[in-house]
Amino acid sequence: MFIGVDLGTSGVKLILLSETGDIINTVTKSYELIIPKSSWAEQDPNEWYEKSLLGLKELIKGYEEDILSISFSGQMHGLVMLDKSDNVLRNAILWNDQRTSKEVDYLNKDIGKDFLLENTGNIALTGLTAPKILWVKNNEPEIFNKISKIMLPKDYLAYKLSGVFATDVSDVSGTLYFDVKNKKYSQEMLNILDITTKQLPKVYESYEKIGLVKNEIKNQLNISQDVSVIIGGGDQAVGALGTGIVKTGQSSISLGTSGVIFVASDSFKVDDISYFQSYCHTNGKYHLMSVMLNAGGALKWWSESIFNNYNYDDFFDNIKDIDINTDLFFLPYLSGERAPINDPYAQGVFLGMNLSHRKEHLDRAVIEGITFALKDSFELIRKLGVDIASVRITGGGAKSKVWAQMIADILDVEVYTMKAEEGPAFGAAILAMIGVGHFEDVQTACQKLVKIDSSFKQNLKNVKKYSHKYSKFGIIYPKVKEIFRL
Ligand code: XUL
Repeated sequence: MFIGVDLGTSGVKLILLSETGDIINTVTKSYELIIPKSSWAEQDPNEWYEKSLLGLKELIKGYEEDILSISFSGQMHGLVMLDKSDNVLRNAILWNDQRTSKEVDYLNKDIGKDFLLENTGNIALTGLTAPKILWVKNNEPEIFNKISKIMLPKDYLAYKLSGVFATDVSDVSGTLYFDVKNKKYSQEMLNILDITTKQLPKVYESYEKIGLVKNEIKNQLNISQDVSVIIGGGDQAVGALGTGIVKTGQSSISLGTSGVIFVASDSFKVDDISYFQSYCHTNGKYHLMSVMLNAGGALKWWSESIFNNYNYDDFFDNIKDIDINTDLFFLPYLSGERAPINDPYAQGVFLGMNLSHRKEHLDRAVIEGITFALKDSFELIRKLGVDIASVRITGGGAKSKVWAQMIADILDVEVYTMKAEEGPAFGAAILAMIGVGHFEDVQTACQKLVKIDSSFKQNLKNVKKYSHKYSKFGIIYPKVKEIFRL
């Protein structure tokens, strides 16, 4: 059997797959975000490890002797730093942390976007790892001077389990010190950051084996046979693999905390118009993606943090009959925004309320606002000449049929949901299978294992209504953005 571990932002999700790709067991262990200041986001890597180990024990109970391999999907860009005795130097600074706007300005303006695009294929964004390293250098020099190892979140787990200091092409693409096209560290960027390759892990393809689970861990898990460790990848690329997005032009939207549009591509593309993230894929090829920071995250904030409501079936049931023509709008920029506006100062907005509105009108505005923000990127990707006829949706948000239909109507595209909803964890387990030769490559594994569940065709009447509403949505941000800077 094969284990997939998805080290996410709200928790770690573990999945156990049989030889035929059936899901035998899943376990989730939650943890919290640490928010030392508004717009900062951290987590303790030790907690990731402890929760993962607890989860692993529970996951494989009764199947200990059948486990062949394990692989990972991880929240991307997080900066984990260890000292020379392998102690974690400080909390990890996460992908959705916005503290680096000064460092991003330095990289994009002083070093220059052209230089960054040429050496890495990407520009600087506040969430990426390189600006975080500069931030630590500028603000916590005593920590910077002690750095012996720099790694990404899932690489920390792989290191703890195997003792092998490794990363993979898809995750390391999101650091901004990796030359994505040529799949090697960019010496020019390492010079700018004042770090060396000695501090960085060896880079593998996502489906490659890096070693074996250490004996002391196997003892804790009651395993006696060898268990191979396959490095895995960044959650977006692994999630896309778990959704079968591996052929050029295929696309998916993942509705987790973030909202990500992902397009697979056989060749490397630099996007010097919209600056979408241009990264390596888990199948040895490449992909483009556009990331909004708060999709499910905005819904969770609105429903759980504000209203203490955890029942999403009711939530979506209540909004489905509210008239689309209601002129009530929501901008979901609750922790600044990445694509396509790239504005760390942006904030959330409700606009257009009147006395007739009830909570469900605001609920609908939240879901529409998130989906309109996705459409902003989707339209830009279409303008790049990518012909997207359908998308597969995954993540927590994909569980709602109401939202799936809204996505079809707002993006004007056919939407598919998947049988295995566990996107990234499922993808990680597939990589675990490929890494030990159970399948010859990613494409073959996906053909055998990934299955579509339902499809949602556009409702043409609604497409028209939403299109009108979207044109109004587009006016709001440019009009209010200066207020966020006052
Ligand atoms: C991708 C990104 C997020 C995190 C979320 O660039 O920042 O999707 O990986 O887990």
